Amino acid sequence: MELRSGRETIPSNDKNYNIELKSNNTMNPANRIKNLPPYLFAGLEEKATKLRGEGVDLIDLGIADPDLPPPKFLVDSVKAHLDDPDAFRYPTSRGDAGVRAAIAKWFKQRFGVELDPGREIVVTLGSKEGLTDLARAVVNPDDTVAVPIPGYPVYGGACAILNDAQPRYLELLPENQFLPKLEDSDGCRVLFLNYPNNPTGQVADEEFYKAAADFAETHPETLVVWDAAYCELSFDDFKSPSILQFTRKAVEMHSLSKMMNCTGYRIGFAVGDADTLDAMVKIKTQVDSGAPVFIQRAMAEALSRYDGKNPPEECLQSHREYGERKKKLEIGLLDVHGVKRVYPSPSTFFVWMRVANDLEFVEKAMKKGVILTPGSGFGSNADKFVRAAVTAPSVRIDQAIERLLEL
Ligand SMILES: Cc1ncc(COP(=O)(O)O)c(C=O)c1O
Repeated sequence: MELRSGRETIPSNDKNYNIELKSNNTMNPANRIKNLPPYLFAGLEEKATKLRGEGVDLIDLGIADPDLPPPKFLVDSVKAHLDDPDAFRYPTSRGDAGVRAAIAKWFKQRFGVELDPGREIVVTLGSKEGLTDLARAVVNPDDTVAVPIPGYPVYGGACAILNDAQPRYLELLPENQFLPKLEDSDGCRVLFLNYPNNPTGQVADEEFYKAAADFAETHPETLVVWDAAYCELSFDDFKSPSILQFTRKAVEMHSLSKMMNCTGYRIGFAVGDADTLDAMVKIKTQVDSGAPVFIQRAMAEALSRYDGKNPPEECLQSHREYGERKKKLEIGLLDVHGVKRVYPSPSTFFVWMRVANDLEFVEKAMKKGVILTPGSGFGSNADKFVRAAVTAPSVRIDQAIERLLEL
């Protein structure tokens, strides 16, 4: 069933995303570039830039980029490994053997799953690269790729359209706890799942992991890719499981970006089905040559600081801080005019709210000095939702609530 075949939109953290291809572009870019969805929020961004230029104090709850710094041990470790005698040389595409061994150890400790570091782990330049190189390794032109909406726009963009494939959009609806109907992805080459979820902040229950595992086992033509970018960013004793606890016929993407506040380090790893990961490594040998070894080794050391299933204290503190900010905003929004519902969750730094019209609400909030992201940026079915990211200090969240209460 094609739920939607229209083109979706793309919000992005990348300031360079907003490139309009000129109609008289003599370079004649590839069709797959032209087929990428349009960037709908140029108007909103222009307004924000204008307001900033006029000296208006804007509180930015729009971007999914941590404002808290990485733990000191991680920064120190990056610096220390810069002096490694091989730090300046090409890394291997699959990732440093010692680093993969450390990931295997962490995975066993955290999820109770044994991985073969030789074939079931690939170090990536963050999960974005992992997702896109993986898709390139398995998606053929004209395949369909199951893409949840609202969702992280890269699944439909880089993973489907840039591979000349067709996204099939699976709706995440409040009445289904923002979980997709797995059977809607029948016949797709890849099914992307992402919990804890961006943009809704929602988590999946164990039943859903089991259903996804069952789908993966009974649909060998469909590769289930579980994007676990927010897996470790949780609070209130919530611990996200791994899909590999339920099936080995899937690939899961992990990333240090949100786990340890280091989006700029570009480091993560893919785990799971060995044959698929071999294919992904083939792509990496052609495309990126792997992540810098000093960053890889710092990641390995950081993972080794886990105490059983628990992150090191510095990470816990930062996760708690996001959790407190998120709760504060979730409660504060309940009294804001125009907010019909808030969907709390024990993970991610996103607050997902229901409104009458996302663009109108976001414009009004901006006039009050608060930047939010319209839901339609994550899928055409989400135009009655708005996302806030609590990536601003607690006092700014207080101020944001005060300003929104004036709406
Ligand atoms: C759901 C999801 N997956 C993947 C990523 C990419 O993260 P990174 O490449 O920094 O690991 C993001 C970034 O915002 C995200 O929201």
